[in-house]
Amino acid sequence: MIKSPMTVLQGKTIALGITGSIAAFKAAELASALTQAGAMVDVIMTEAAQRFISPVTLRAITHRQVATDMWEVPAKFEIEHISLAEAAKVLLIAPATANTIAKLAGGLADDLLSTTALATKAPMVIAPAMNDDMYAHPATQQNIARLKERGVLFVEPSFGRLASGKIGQGRLAKLEEIIGTLSAVLGREGELAGWKVVITAGGTREPLDPVRYLGNRSSGKMGYALVEAARDRGARVILISASDRPAPAGVAVVRVETASQMQVAVAEAVMGADVLIMAAAVADYQAKEVAAQKKKKTDETQYLELKRTPDILQGARGHFVRVGFAAESEDLIANARHKLDEKELDLVIANDITEFGSGFETDTNHVTMISRDGGMEALPLLTKREVADRVLDAIMRLARLRGKKKNHGEGLE
Ligand code: C5P
Repeated sequence: MIKSPMTVLQGKTIALGITGSIAAFKAAELASALTQAGAMVDVIMTEAAQRFISPVTLRAITHRQVATDMWEVPAKFEIEHISLAEAAKVLLIAPATANTIAKLAGGLADDLLSTTALATKAPMVIAPAMNDDMYAHPATQQNIARLKERGVLFVEPSFGRLASGKIGQGRLAKLEEIIGTLSAVLGREGELAGWKVVITAGGTREPLDPVRYLGNRSSGKMGYALVEAARDRGARVILISASDRPAPAGVAVVRVETASQMQVAVAEAVMGADVLIMAAAVADYQAKEVAAQKKKKTDETQYLELKRTPDILQGARGHFVRVGFAAESEDLIANARHKLDEKELDLVIANDITEFGSGFETDTNHVTMISRDGGMEALPLLTKREVADRVLDAIMRLARLRGKKKNHGEGLE
């Protein structure tokens, strides 16, 4: 869940349509998460939705009126579906039934939600939830395809146990995924709109034999926080991940395992990029020879012969802002400065991994940012998402100094 006060949801009006699926109860948690993130959530419930969950619950959660009935005489004069449609920065329908999806695909407008959907110019995000056979039915799939053609974004239902007891695809997507997609849509107008940002994350694994590998303790949390922060500012993000964590919604992900694979992926991704952030903990050594079969244990002392991995950042050059991380257990600033010079970086993020609440696997981080122009900024202990936002602020400052114009979508000059 996104916890930072700086998320793209803050202060945004979101129309949340809830339809008559058994997953309707999950909409309460969704509305709560959006409200806690600072969004104004205008809930619109279909009649069937109200059979599963009460509007009273949604009103208490959102602290706002819940729209349920087209024919109710409003307290002040306004045509409700028009005012809801105009106020919304995005219309999210979660859960969406096959019936509502069919109505929207056909342009029908016979209740408050479908009239609002037809009247709004805001982008629409739909998270379906239904029986797996209904979801797979050609009628539903064709309706979804029609809506996609019109620019509607879908958050695919997940596989799992359905209300019928069957296992299939039809469960409402995870709330993180729905909120991630919503954030990506809202971020489109952000200050990084038109920028291509490449971010590496996680710890590489260098195989020794088909079973074992050399690895490190990087969880990928810092890199993933950077990915979400850049996405929420409107960037087109390419995540090159050596971590098992699921990719944040709305970003392209390339999965890699070794330093060599990461090098190939980075070389391809940085073409036309504006920023490269190497947050991955890349192994410095790999086995000189990888055994084809599992190595048997013996009573002898074993020696591993290692050779250097390629230095990815050193080799990735171009007209983009290059940012590295320096995870250190001693002489933090001196070592970070050395890396900045050696790899000719624009910015290095120095990270003391011995400190409590900082470094690997934690949700917080304590870093100092050192830039090529001599600037140094020591940040307090912050959540990784907050650190990510501060790093992006620094990158934007550097890019501006180098004369990058906002929102032009091309590499730096
Ligand atoms: O491992 P080291 O502390 O030198 O890492 C500094 C920076 O260089 C990090 O941003 C890391 O992702 C990157 N790096 C790399 N290729 C390597 C080792 C590290 O790009 N082989």
